Amino acid sequence: MSADSWVVWAGRPQGGDEPLNTPIVAASNFTDASSYARSTGTPTWEAFEAVLGGLEGGSAIAFSTGMAAASAVIDLVPVGGHVVLPSDCYQGVAMVVADGVAAGRFTSEQIAVTETTRWIEAISRADLAWVESPTNPLLEIADLAAIASAPRSGLLAVDNTFATPLNQRPLQSGADIAVHSVTKFIGGHSDLMMGATVVRDEGLGERLSRRRSLGGATPGALEAFLAARGVRTLAVRLERSQATAASLARRLAADDRVDGVRYPGLETHPGHAVAAAQLHGFGAMVSFEVRGGAEAADRVCRSIRLVHHTTSLGGVESTMERRAAVAGQEHLPAGLIRLSVGIEAPEDLWADLSQALG
Ligand SMILES: Cc1ncc(COP(=O)(O)O)c(C=O)c1O
Repeated sequence: MSADSWVVWAGRPQGGDEPLNTPIVAASNFTDASSYARSTGTPTWEAFEAVLGGLEGGSAIAFSTGMAAASAVIDLVPVGGHVVLPSDCYQGVAMVVADGVAAGRFTSEQIAVTETTRWIEAISRADLAWVESPTNPLLEIADLAAIASAPRSGLLAVDNTFATPLNQRPLQSGADIAVHSVTKFIGGHSDLMMGATVVRDEGLGERLSRRRSLGGATPGALEAFLAARGVRTLAVRLERSQATAASLARRLAADDRVDGVRYPGLETHPGHAVAAAQLHGFGAMVSFEVRGGAEAADRVCRSIRLVHHTTSLGGVESTMERRAAVAGQEHLPAGLIRLSVGIEAPEDLWADLSQALG
């Protein structure tokens, strides 16, 4: 079955006269004396996990947020261990690693994901290599096949939030763990917070499941239901969003009010060849620099009408923000706007961006 059909078909009750959709099961415990939701899960989480696990080609464990999933992975690093992460990556993950380093738990280094040779050397001595590709917000591309096939001494985790499992399957490339902020494209409606890890190795799955159970970062019943509902339309949402993203990226690149556009689908993107070989689609995230720097970019953000000037991404509604305005992100190019392209009519989005640039 193709992934597009799987997202619609999987994770439904089987047999008997069951509801077509797995309902919201609001229960902390079950009539079997030993079943406690935090440890053994609920049918609503399991329905979502079945869909995501099948998509990534492994077993999924749903968490309360993407950060809970990331933290569970980082918790696996032994005391005195070493973590490698991208120089551009989601700031929350970099902050958790920095906290671990500050507490003396482990050491870390950051390497640009584009520096394949340095990554190959670093993962030979890392307990955890955390890759993000495309990266947030610079949309840099890692050569996952090259990194994942190099000898490694620890775990290789890939944050697959930007690509989604429809565009990229890190486990098939040889990674140990795929991580998601389900909050974003998978949920798809900016109405829930959830995360997930997906693994192939049973023992590793048990270790992560133990982190969820003991850390207590379990999904809510409503959130799991919404995520299972949201993922049903992932294929059609993504198809529309990434087609629009490609067209907006091209138009922005040709616009002299814009200094530069980062979109892996553009031939001018330095990671385009790797992206074309590695990704099914180039995704719905576009980052661009407004000519005139921070002030001009702020004016564009304030002038936008259809696109929402807000943080986060991956929803049906387009959103954008100037990332260097976010605390801790001042190192980014001052005029860089990260745009998450939704499913609105492409011409309306271009008209809005163009009037805001004006
Ligand atoms: C790439 C990436 N990974 C992880 C996260 C964290 O996910 P959450 O906000 O669901 O905790 C985010 C959030 O923006 C993200 O963009």
